[in-house]
Amino acid sequence: MEINSLQLNNLRRLSEISSFLSEPIAIEALKYTLTVEDFERKVARDLPVVSPGHVTGVSLLHDNEARISFSSGISLRVRAFERGMRLTWVESKIDTGISDRLLKPAKLVQEGSGPVVLSNGSFKLKVEDDGTIHYLLGEREFRRDDPPEFVGDGFRQASSIEESARIHGTGERAMNYDLRGSLLKMWNHDANGSYGSFEDPLYISIPVYIVEGEVTYLVFHNNPSQGEIDMDFNHQGMIRARFSGCGHDMFIFPGSLKEVLRCLRDISGPQSLPPRWALGFHQSRYSYMNGDEVMSVARGFKDNGLPISAIHLDIDYMDGYRVFTVDRNRFVDLAGMNRDLASMGIRTVAIIDPGVKVDDNYSVYREGLRRDAYVKWPDGTYVNSPVWPGNVAFPDFTEEKVRDWWGSNYEFFEENGISGIWHDMNEPAVFPVRGDNSLPWFADHHGRLHRDVHNIYAMHMARAAYEYMVKRRGERPFILSRSGWAGIQKYSAVWTGDTESTWDALRITIPTILNLGLSGIPFAGVDVGGFSGSPSDELFVRWFQMATFLPLFRVHSSKGSRPREPWHFPRHLEILRKYLRVRYSLIDHIMTLFYITRDTGLPIVRPVSMEFPGEEVLDDVAFMLGDSILVVPVLQPGQRYRYTKLPGKGHWYSFWNGERVSGIVEERISIQDIPVYVREGSIIPVRDGERLRLHVYTESVAEGSLYMDDDAVDPRYAFWTFRFRVDGNSVEYSVFKEGQLDTDNEFVCVLHMTSSEGRPVTREFEVTGRQGGLTLS
Ligand code: GLC
Repeated sequence: MEINSLQLNNLRRLSEISSFLSEPIAIEALKYTLTVEDFERKVARDLPVVSPGHVTGVSLLHDNEARISFSSGISLRVRAFERGMRLTWVESKIDTGISDRLLKPAKLVQEGSGPVVLSNGSFKLKVEDDGTIHYLLGEREFRRDDPPEFVGDGFRQASSIEESARIHGTGERAMNYDLRGSLLKMWNHDANGSYGSFEDPLYISIPVYIVEGEVTYLVFHNNPSQGEIDMDFNHQGMIRARFSGCGHDMFIFPGSLKEVLRCLRDISGPQSLPPRWALGFHQSRYSYMNGDEVMSVARGFKDNGLPISAIHLDIDYMDGYRVFTVDRNRFVDLAGMNRDLASMGIRTVAIIDPGVKVDDNYSVYREGLRRDAYVKWPDGTYVNSPVWPGNVAFPDFTEEKVRDWWGSNYEFFEENGISGIWHDMNEPAVFPVRGDNSLPWFADHHGRLHRDVHNIYAMHMARAAYEYMVKRRGERPFILSRSGWAGIQKYSAVWTGDTESTWDALRITIPTILNLGLSGIPFAGVDVGGFSGSPSDELFVRWFQMATFLPLFRVHSSKGSRPREPWHFPRHLEILRKYLRVRYSLIDHIMTLFYITRDTGLPIVRPVSMEFPGEEVLDDVAFMLGDSILVVPVLQPGQRYRYTKLPGKGHWYSFWNGERVSGIVEERISIQDIPVYVREGSIIPVRDGERLRLHVYTESVAEGSLYMDDDAVDPRYAFWTFRFRVDGNSVEYSVFKEGQLDTDNEFVCVLHMTSSEGRPVTREFEVTGRQGGLTLS
């Protein structure tokens, strides 16, 4: 397809081609777009619509499994588990990484005559003759699925939802915590450098949702294909799901929020334990342009007494944006630079995009061709589309041999002393002149349609990297991914991509991160200060203060934005330093929460109403770190006062000065701090350099835990559970230890108390051994 510069200029005038694309890339973008449109016309087809018909038979296949046959020839397979059921109308051949292996099977019983009633004990399905399904807990119906309609390889189906129920989950959504009333696309999407609240879809779409109502339950559609879920957009009391491929296979789990999250963890996989350094502070920018700049950033942190764990290299470290290469003019000795950083206690994280530059003189590209690694057009030629380097080819990560090959390239990072890997543009993103900015639905992944694997592309890329790094390095990898699907938590952390530098974007970060957690992805963060644009000092400080308490703490920003290293905010440097120190003081606590989330699926950062049902108003403006720290970020410029109704009936302690409070608190807000409270009855491990102290917040009983390990993939670890009973000056304690890590069992404790004049005071004491008692002097 030939395109001349006159055509190109005309298109620019019509602003179909964004002006940021250079002319050669714009030409490729236009060619790509015309190719997509040409194929689109050729592959368009009418899809048949099929309904189940009526029930023709029921057979119990195993103890926990039944099949209901319908006159259309379609059958519904029901598998019962202790906590829920799996309903498979049409199985998919795509490897989604989802499995019911960890679920405990339950005996499935067929009850009565008339409609088919299948029960696992308390939870029942009533299947009517036309395929309508009623879901009951005891005798109470909490959901009804209308008969599905099968459209081509996909389906559509409407389900009822209780009037007062709220909806959460679905991956990454720049929306309120309650998603009811929204129309959510299931198609991972690059926001093109900037997005604000309510833009949809974003980089991570997962068809999992939790309906929180009189009966709470989780639905997981094991379907990565292009789709949409209408969360009662028209307020008719219906949820409508529509998927274009991958059959119809769903899980449903009734239970409390905490119980259903455990089920989600069991089917999608546990959060992997990150290396400890990854929980520290990360400084990034698009881009630190050369080795000298990186080293001066590192020195800036050291000279200013600012703790830091990692510096990120964005795309400009590469040679012409070719993956697994270095621009040796800018980074003359990358390995040497990383050694110098390591000697300062700083790790390097490097970005990598999936697209491989089309260049016959480039060995990685040639090797991919030789291995038949790339995604193709329906006619068997390779899809080439412009991204940063110009035209690229896309490795098909859904193919095992491609994952093996891709992963083996990560040796490059090891050779250059790079510890962490940052996966970007992995929706995958492309630069067309119009239309969707990813590959089209008909692109061919070794016999699979892009339509069906688009949403799992990034997860399989992370899997390739993770499996190789674990095998080869024997280290816990730190991988950070922009895009993802259910199960990405097994391999990678995520961040919320190209947010705007606005107060609104700061606010929406809270529900976005909460809904990621309720989709099974606890390890998440945000570009502190927002990616696109330049925050005011105040906005940056507020963002920084909030992110101190998020699982991933990284500053990052777009090209051309104001510098974001802390010393560029000289009037607020002291505050930023303080919060960095707070982060490092909480690192053992955060690690403990990672251990807990791995086993339970409970998010690290939780909605307040998960811990305090009935406190929904705080869900969009505050969050809990674990079950004991309440963080109330400041979300408005110039805010000087705040009234917070502390959740629950019990007491709280100010994290900053230990003051014991409850009910409605009126706070004067200064730029120094955001309100943070510790729940009465908690124990928080707090580190000060080498010294770890257990802070005990109670006047009666407190419980808490601490996890430590040796940072290995299969770690030697210790997990302590502490219980304290305080009565005036006397303290009784018990300590339980699990795990084989050799440590002494002595802890310095700080008891937070209130003096007789009502002032906060602390008393320090030591505990040793498994249990004991002491009198405070
Ligand atoms: C994308 C990423 C952003 C990165 C940029 C350049 O916009 O989301 O984080 O800095 O690409 O690589």
